[in-house]
Amino acid sequence: MPGSAADRWSSWIDCCRQNAVARPDLLTQLHGYRDRVLDRAQIQSGDDVLDIGCGDGLIAFGALERTGAEGTVIFSDISPELIAQCRARAQALGAMDRCRFLVMTADDLHDIGAASVDVVTTRSVLIYIDRKDRALSEFFRVLRPGGRVSIGEPINRFTLLEPPGRFRGYPIGPVEDIVDKLKGLWERELRPRLVSMLDFDERDLVAMSDQAGFGTIHLDLQVDIRPTPKDSWDRFLRTAPNPLSPTLEALMLAALSGPERERLTTYLKPMVESGNGIERRAFAYLSATKALP
Ligand SMILES: C[S@@+](CC[C@H](N)C(=O)[O-])C[C@H]1O[C@@H](n2cnc3c(N)ncnc32)[C@H](O)[C@@H]1O
Repeated sequence: MPGSAADRWSSWIDCCRQNAVARPDLLTQLHGYRDRVLDRAQIQSGDDVLDIGCGDGLIAFGALERTGAEGTVIFSDISPELIAQCRARAQALGAMDRCRFLVMTADDLHDIGAASVDVVTTRSVLIYIDRKDRALSEFFRVLRPGGRVSIGEPINRFTLLEPPGRFRGYPIGPVEDIVDKLKGLWERELRPRLVSMLDFDERDLVAMSDQAGFGTIHLDLQVDIRPTPKDSWDRFLRTAPNPLSPTLEALMLAALSGPERERLTTYLKPMVESGNGIERRAFAYLSATKALP
């Protein structure tokens, strides 16, 4: 079950990156998220950028390319392991003079001075924060007047809470009794740990940005409902949908008997391998500006 690993964040990101190497569509999707967050941040040459929850540096290294020789990037994350990875990569790039590394939580940026950066970026991080309003206020505090924030967050109320009769994108038909057991365990034991992922939507992001003091706010919501791509059963079984959730394999071991696991596998595996499901995704992109005095 999730949450026991010393640094579940870095092991989850490692797993995602390996999957992205195996599945080019995932890599394209990841680059799409990165480019959209960075485009909306309108980074200028010489800007000082702060990336919150930088992970292995997807957004932050992209920002480093856009700031030019005079610009700087602060890599910040709650995971010391991921910050160490970013530091090693910056060293290899010879970019240490333009980078700073901070282990800190998004809702308490006390190591960063007020009005000290031009841009704050963050992607798929607020979903893990209970005090999202506090985080938004901190982003506002550290930005210089005229500075921009660019946020990209999945709206998991749409993605995780599936319509009845479906499980992880697939119709459950004849295995409904087995899936009910998995869903029961999820509701009882896992959902209470996922509150921060499900307690907001795009309107809340707008309201919290407004409340934090941002003068100009734009939000785009991208919703996609489409056929699932063909996938490997192993990948489907062993990839957790997020760092706080178990893999399907772990969920099955915890909730099902051996014969039930076999029945579910016999039904679901061919559907996953032939791409016979429906994928649902919603992603909110919010950008906002701190007004000049
Ligand atoms: C899904 S990953 C996204 C990483 C990166 N932003 C990207 O776009 O690839 C979520 C990241 O949020 C970080 N994180 C989780 N809780 C956090 C918190 N309270 N404050 C700052 N970062 C946090 C994790 O360590 C992880 O790197």
